[in-house]
Order: sequence, then C-alpha cells, then structure tokens
Amino acid sequence: MMIKVTNEITLTPYLKKDKPDLVRHINHPDISENTLTIPYPYKKEDADEFFQMIQEKEKQTGKIWNWVIRDKDNNLIGSIGLLGREFLGNPHRDVFGYWIGKEFRGKGLMSKVVKSFSDYCLNERGLVRLEANVFFHNQASMKVLEKAGFEREGCLKKAYLKKGKYLDSVLFAKTKRID
Ligand SMILES: CC(C)(COP(=O)(O)OP(=O)(O)OC[C@H]1O[C@@H](n2cnc3c(N)ncnc32)[C@H](O)[C@@H]1OP(=O)(O)O)[C@@H](O)C(=O)NCCC(=O)NCCS
Repeated sequence: MMIKVTNEITLTPYLKKDKPDLVRHINHPDISENTLTIPYPYKKEDADEFFQMIQEKEKQTGKIWNWVIRDKDNNLIGSIGLLGREFLGNPHRDVFGYWIGKEFRGKGLMSKVVKSFSDYCLNERGLVRLEANVFFHNQASMKVLEKAGFEREGCLKKAYLKKGKYLDSVLFAKTKRID
C-alpha cells in the first residue's frame, strides 16, 4: 500500500529494516515536545514497543494506520499516522499526527506529505473528517496544515497536560466535500 507524494517521496508501511533510522531521526527533543506520547531520549526499546503496537493494530483491524515517509532511496525520513479512533460510533472521523527528521525540514516536504495523505484519507479511505491538534506554540505545524488545505477551527484551552503544564492546542480539520 503506497501513497505517492512526489517522484521522490512516498508513504508506505513500516518494515523491520526501518528501526535504526526511526530511532536516529525521532530522537530529538522538539519531536517529543510537539507530540503527545513520543519520549526523549528515544531508545531502541521504545521502537520495539512501537513496532509491536502497530503490528497488533494492523492484525486486529486488517488496516494500515502508520506510514513511513520515505526518500528516493526508500529510507525513512519521518512518519505520519492515524490514531484510529472510532469516536464513539463515528468512524467517519479520525485524528492524525506526523514528524520529519531535523535535517529534512524547511524544504516544504511535510506540507506535500500532509496534502497527499489527507487526500488519500478523504478520497480513498472513506473518512469524511480528518483532524489535527497542534500545540499553540507550534507555528511550523500550523503552517503545514494551512498549506495542505486544513481549516483552523478553534483553540482548545488547557486541552493537554504535558510535563505538569496544561497546554492550549489549536484544532485543524479538513472535510470531504459532499455535494
Ligand atoms: C512541523 C514539521 C512537521 C514541519 O515539517 P517541514 O517539512 O519543515 O514543513 P514545511 O517545510 O512543509 O513547512 C513548514 C512551514 O513552516 C514555516 N515555519 C517553520 N518554522 C516556523 C516558525 N518557527 N514560525 C513560523 N513559521 C515557521 C516554514 O517557513 C514553512 O512555511 P513556508 O513554506 O511558507 O516557508 C517539523 O518541523 C517537525 O517534524 N516538527 C517536530 C514534530 C511536530 O511538530 N509534529 C507536528 C505535531 S502537530
């Protein structure tokens, strides 16, 4: 299952060989700071746990939830994934998250990835509403979502508790056009 982003960038499921690249690129404090559950430092054991989680989820549901962002040599440079929430009987909705390795940033890559990924979710996966929650300080991520056609729907005050602090977040969504 492949989502094509550009001639060089693709999204495909995780493979065992991705583990060392995952640990190397995700192990950065600003990835942990801007996401909910990714630890820093990120150790091999964290990757083992993550691989086990995605394997079980795929087995239980028969669907892919996490994709590797790959460069032209098929190496991992980042990741994007759906949380797979059913929203209390609303399977038309889901939330997604993403990160890209430090050395690949500032080239417009994630904006293209999010655009292709959201098109896939709304046009091929049957979702009608796709959401992202961004911490209030994460300007780069908000820009990515706006460039990928998401709308800023509002501010969720004290929505998350992180390291003992309540953080505001901004809710972005893209919905399928239904005529
Ligand atoms: C957020 C993130 C995914 C962006 O990836 P990227 O490939 O660099 O994104 P792009 O290059 O497509 O776009 C980034 C945009 O933000 C802008 N930007 C970057 N840092 C910024 C800042 N501090 N303030 C305002 N804008 C900023 C860039 O100029 C660019 O806009 P432009 O194309 O109009 O110039 C990446 O920084 C990352 O992985 N961060 C850590 C994890 C994370 O935040 N994940 C998202 C959680 S919601």
